[in-house]
Amino acid sequence: MKIGNIEIPNKSLFLAPMEDITDKSFRFVCKKFGAAMLYTEFIASEALIRNIEKTFKKLEIEDDESPIGIQIYGHNIDAMVEAAKIAETVKPDLIDINYGCPVKKIATRGAGAGMLRDIPKMLKMTKEIVKAVKLPVTVKTRLGWDTENIIIDKLAEQLQDTGIKALTIHGRTRSQLYKGVADWKLIGDIKNNQRIKIPIIGNGDVVSGITAKEKFEKYNVDAIMIARATIGRPWIFKEIKFFLETGKKMPELTIEEKVEIAKIHFLKSVEIKGEPRGIYEMRRHFALYFKGLSNFKPLRLKLLTSIDKNEIFDILQIITEKYKH
Ligand SMILES: Cc1cc2nc3c(=O)[nH]c(=O)nc-3n(C[C@H](O)[C@H](O)[C@H](O)COP(=O)(O)O)c2cc1C
Repeated sequence: MKIGNIEIPNKSLFLAPMEDITDKSFRFVCKKFGAAMLYTEFIASEALIRNIEKTFKKLEIEDDESPIGIQIYGHNIDAMVEAAKIAETVKPDLIDINYGCPVKKIATRGAGAGMLRDIPKMLKMTKEIVKAVKLPVTVKTRLGWDTENIIIDKLAEQLQDTGIKALTIHGRTRSQLYKGVADWKLIGDIKNNQRIKIPIIGNGDVVSGITAKEKFEKYNVDAIMIARATIGRPWIFKEIKFFLETGKKMPELTIEEKVEIAKIHFLKSVEIKGEPRGIYEMRRHFALYFKGLSNFKPLRLKLLTSIDKNEIFDILQIITEKYKH
């Protein structure tokens, strides 16, 4: 499959953009386990053009992260065009536009999924961005604003006509937020539309080899994008690949292996963000790396409150000792 000139193996697994999750350290571990495409967290166009330092940091990418997309969002066309040009200067492989974020303060102001309520503006914005940058532009969106307004069938064609090079569809409406079940039938209908030539990336509720296989076989998407199931389980890319190739479940990682991965992630986080920020930002990940361990509460509490790097390493060592077979 090709997104513009970017060659990507067929039936690949992409790491979804996730705010406060897909920073450089998490992308590093996901790539190690086979994520075929990475995205930054979404980046507010208005903050980018105003040179806000925290926002600018999100733009930082490494050469070895390629292929990687920078995702931007916003409601103002000029600001989005300017932001796309700024994003282009750090040399990602593509620029992705977020028309799917359901968060109230974003969507009700007309950005993210809010753009699903103003299709002429969405198409104009997309066209202008495509015109303004040399890189491939892609879009990530949802089925529509709500169940009464499912518009993705026509919208996919309209977006393709703006010149975008791939379309990611999260099989929910904005009103659904993250509830209910993603409707892959509608994603499959887009893929099977003869007029659609650009790659279609399906997204929503893929959590295992079995679910990924079903989505590829039934809906024929070009790639699958995974979000929530990667948190605390970045090796899911390897697990799914293993299942797709062998039809068998990869053996569950040992606690030693999980701790090693958490350590690599943690070290990167601290290396990139420094202390204590790199430590704080690992907490949401740590909580999920060790989810399900019995009688884990006291260690969990320590792990999620410590601000000392060495102490965290000691706790990780204790976890290994306590839970290894
Ligand atoms: C914590 C979190 C942050 C997210 N941030 C973004 C984002 O920055 N950009 C975006 O396009 N989608 C974002 N999403 C949506 C996901 O990319 C994805 O579309 C959604 O979670 C459905 O996929 P899943 O079922 O694999 O989780 C976010 C989701 C979560 C859970």
